[in-house]
Amino acid sequence: MSVSDKLKISITPLTKADIDEVDEIACKAYGAHHWSKDSFYSELQNKLAQYYIARLEDNTIAGFAGYWCIIDEAHITTIAVAPEFFRRHIGEALLKAMLEDCYSKKVKYLTLEVRESNIAAISMYQKYGFQSFGVRKGYYQDNNESALIMWTENIFWDKFKNKYEENVSKLNEIIDIQ
Ligand SMILES: CC(C)(COP(=O)(O)OP(=O)(O)OC[C@H]1O[C@@H](n2cnc3c(N)ncnc32)[C@H](O)[C@@H]1OP(=O)(O)O)[C@@H](O)C(=O)NCCC(=O)NCCS
Repeated sequence: MSVSDKLKISITPLTKADIDEVDEIACKAYGAHHWSKDSFYSELQNKLAQYYIARLEDNTIAGFAGYWCIIDEAHITTIAVAPEFFRRHIGEALLKAMLEDCYSKKVKYLTLEVRESNIAAISMYQKYGFQSFGVRKGYYQDNNESALIMWTENIFWDKFKNKYEENVSKLNEIIDIQ
């Protein structure tokens, strides 16, 4: 792939002005059961939370993600990419942005819940070293689906960090992240 073929994105903190566009992506990516706009507005007031958007060169928002940071743990609350941009490594780039934050804040562990049928998300998390350590039965009220509870090991441990750095190095070859 030549340098010019690389998808270019910028990852920046979510602002109020982005919420309408983010809400449209949430609706497309998550279907009927997604956060309301009010949830995004209130998350912007949450001091424990950090949210990001991924923007394309033409200024379109292609995805968003966020987490809560509680002492040395981060809980990923959401991550979504507009379906027309699936499999272009934007999800990974958003995950990387959150992991970089965790490294700089000395957060040791990341966790999240994911629908047990969500192969795309589970595969992405597994690629980055998350493992399933439990199930919350019937966690999702819309269809009573169970959630896998996924955790990283300590992200400062060599095994995790080496895998992370290998993934990031490959990611940087295929996508230009500002
Ligand atoms: C999960 C999601 C964010 C992934 O975003 P994406 O930008 O399409 O994913 P990426 O291109 O960054 O893929 C990263 C890795 O995830 C895995 N992956 C992504 N989509 C996959 C799919 N459909 N099937 C299998 N693995 C998949 C692969 O391991 C991939 O790495 P690879 O391309 O080297 O094989 C996206 O599918 C999405 O928005 N889904 C709807 C919302 C959602 O379910 N969010 C998760 C809530 S927990």
